[in-house]
Amino acid sequence: MSPIDPETMFPPRPTALAQGILKRVIRAGDLVIDATAGNGHDTLFLANCVGGEGKVLAFDVQEAAIAATRVRVIDAGFEDRVQLIQSSHEHLADHASEKSVAAVMFNLGYLPGDDHKITTQASGTLAALDAAVRVIRTGGVLSVVCYPGHPAGATEAKDVERWMTDCAAKGWRVAKYGAVGTRRPAPFLLIAAAL
Ligand SMILES: C[S@@+](CC[C@H](N)C(=O)[O-])C[C@H]1O[C@@H](n2cnc3c(N)ncnc32)[C@H](O)[C@@H]1O
Repeated sequence: MSPIDPETMFPPRPTALAQGILKRVIRAGDLVIDATAGNGHDTLFLANCVGGEGKVLAFDVQEAAIAATRVRVIDAGFEDRVQLIQSSHEHLADHASEKSVAAVMFNLGYLPGDDHKITTQASGTLAALDAAVRVIRTGGVLSVVCYPGHPAGATEAKDVERWMTDCAAKGWRVAKYGAVGTRRPAPFLLIAAAL
């Protein structure tokens, strides 16, 4: 049998890649941000990374997402290290000072299994990315998983990639990872490090 299970392990999912990269950057005691809490998987991952002395600020516009994330966080016993904020991620800089944050994670799109009309929008996402670069410290990382497979996601993914390219021109180190040759445009990860 092949050591690689082609259904689940190859290529690695962009969300798993983002976590794998951020795990190497985040230290115990750090302040980090989950810009799209959703069902709380990334929030829980970040809470594990920062430890008992660290803090995760988790944003989502939807009450259902905040509630689902709260359950996950409480089940893990991490409520002291996670602050849930039901607000748009455009306002994230109101909650963290300049250059204070080790990592900001975005997983764009809609809440799986919920109302697909409530999805991240290009204009709000770009405003949130502008806010994220203000709060990320030197050596910190910004990760964005884009979903070009649905119409709003395709426009948003294009805009985010253009924004990331500009970011590279401003001195950030930027990379893109995703499958090619798929039936529908595959999700991809954009990641930027503040040098
Ligand atoms: C793909 S889901 C995130 C999945 C999540 N990271 C997880 O681990 O379960 C995208 C989320 O973005 C949220 N969202 C949409 N617009 C937003 C905004 N302006 N600010 C913050 N969250 C937003 C949606 O409500 C949805 O829950």
